[in-house]
Amino acid sequence: MSESRLANILDAMVDGVYVANQRHELEYVNPALARVFGPWQGRKCYEYLEDRADVCPGCPGLDSFDGARRWEWASRKTGRVYDVVDSLVINPDGTRSKLEILRDITELKREQEQAADEARRKDAFVALLAHELRTPLTPLLHAAQVIAGGGDRELADAASQIVVQQVRHMSRLIDDLLDASRVTRGVVILRREPVRLGLVLESVLKSNEPTIADADVKLEVISEGDIVVEADPVRLCQILSNLLGNALKFTDPGGLVRIEVARQRGEAVVRITDTGVGISREELPRIFEMFVRARPDDTRGGLGIGLALARTLARLHGGEIRAHSAGRGRGSTFELELPIHG
Ligand SMILES: Nc1ncnc2c1ncn2[C@@H]1O[C@H](COP(=O)(O)OP(=O)(O)OP(=O)(O)O)[C@@H](O)[C@H]1O
Ligand SMILES: [Mg+2]
Repeated sequence: MSESRLANILDAMVDGVYVANQRHELEYVNPALARVFGPWQGRKCYEYLEDRADVCPGCPGLDSFDGARRWEWASRKTGRVYDVVDSLVINPDGTRSKLEILRDITELKREQEQAADEARRKDAFVALLAHELRTPLTPLLHAAQVIAGGGDRELADAASQIVVQQVRHMSRLIDDLLDASRVTRGVVILRREPVRLGLVLESVLKSNEPTIADADVKLEVISEGDIVVEADPVRLCQILSNLLGNALKFTDPGGLVRIEVARQRGEAVVRITDTGVGISREELPRIFEMFVRARPDDTRGGLGIGLALARTLARLHGGEIRAHSAGRGRGSTFELELPIHG
């Protein structure tokens, strides 16, 4: 192959390529590398790439170099990560040169880290799920034994109430899981119809009555009664139940949860404000991700599915959910926005 053809090939490479002699002086730099590191004539490789005055520590030099070396290099100068491969070149006059190829693998590394992070999150989720599904089994077993004992009528009634409660709790967990999987696969079908927001809210409050009573917080509801949205009523209930459930769960007894339904800039807004544990600035951007809980050690948290589901469902309706909080211990506000019907 002719020299000009070879030069043509090196010029076309997207990987950076350079050749340096035994004194580390650059003999050739291809355009891809020069585009990133600038003019190279008369410079040494360590000056050019690392801005160093001396040879890089650990550089084996060319005398003892046996022909191949590969490592990963995080460049301070460009902030990028390179897969670097050195090869030994024996020149026609017997001198030695180093041929170095640098491939920018920054994006690849980022993707690998994201995938590893995702895998860690899934592992943690499976452990949490096993724990959450295991927890109701003990009270269920006790209740079954009490009922089977056939003794006191009152005790048996209490036991069967426990069975109902725990089975409801488990059903909700499993329904959430099934929904999460449907949402991730993009197979949720909405049955949209004009619905009055105020009425949907009423039914959400009704079905959450026991949770509201348990939470022992003050609940304020301010609702403009006549706002109509085009929504799947079942899914809308689910969104609001998730938001209300969180507000109740993360607010200590004696706190306040306020629900406002209003028109705002031509849209319908349901704003749920609580005086609860709040969310820090660092935690805020991640709480809508599937399986993410802001405080994994908080025993009040669930599986970290609710908000991910609620936001996806809101977006399927052409709406959005936003979270605000002034920080830990300072309460939170969640806003559901939906287009108004007609
Ligand atoms: N009103 C709130 N106040 C404080 N933190 C909240 C509030 N709502 C959500 N969070 C934080 O966001 C996290 C994610 O909420 P999400 O509803 O997705 O999960 P969860 O409530 O923990 O579990 P799940 O809803 O699946 O039962 C929660 O674990 C909590 O840390
Ligand atoms: Mg939740």
